[in-house]
Amino acid sequence: MISTPLQWQSACEHALRDFTRQDALRFWGWGHDIDGLRVPAFDYRFEHTLAVVKLGRWLASQVNADEDILICAAWLHDCRKRLGSKGFDNHANDAADALDGILDSTDFPRHKISATRHAILNHVGLTLSEPLEPLETACLWDVDKLSKLGAASLIHFIGITPAFQPASTWEILKKGEKWLELARGIMDSMNTAPAKSEAAKRFEFLRNYYKQLRAEI
Ligand SMILES: [Fe+2]
Ligand SMILES: [Fe+2]
Repeated sequence: MISTPLQWQSACEHALRDFTRQDALRFWGWGHDIDGLRVPAFDYRFEHTLAVVKLGRWLASQVNADEDILICAAWLHDCRKRLGSKGFDNHANDAADALDGILDSTDFPRHKISATRHAILNHVGLTLSEPLEPLETACLWDVDKLSKLGAASLIHFIGITPAFQPASTWEILKKGEKWLELARGIMDSMNTAPAKSEAAKRFEFLRNYYKQLRAEI
């Protein structure tokens, strides 16, 4: 009997969600019980990845990148990254190593796996000294970093903060203003023109947000 291959996008989403849910539960140390399932207070890694995937769909259409490669890399780029891990960061390599196992029985085109792996292996770091190549690798870097700027990034940041430390409005403001300094470097490192322009808009939004927050408190 010939078995039908799994749809690769839902296989990626499930593989990611299984890992991030367990890891978030471990890190938070508690969860909500909903319909027989233990759900973490905030699944930061899944929320971040979903934003990266959505940005990937947008950027692929803007620059004519290969959507299979970019979206698969977007789903899986952080698929083995653990919350709160300290010391040597190997999460890009770990994710690249998990690729074959996740895509094995799916309909993902085999000839696109090495380009997907290349994108994942090169997505780390908050600044670049020179633009990345090829296009899909450059795009993954851009959308991963764009997800750390803008309105949704605030929700991600504020949602995960209490898992690391007690949160207060003042702490969020101080951390946010510190992040702005790094965010400028991220904006200046974008590879593609649409991401550069989107990053500038998002940076401006964040700058104004923290300015307003400081004025309020
Ligand atoms: Fe990452
Ligand atoms: Fe990421």
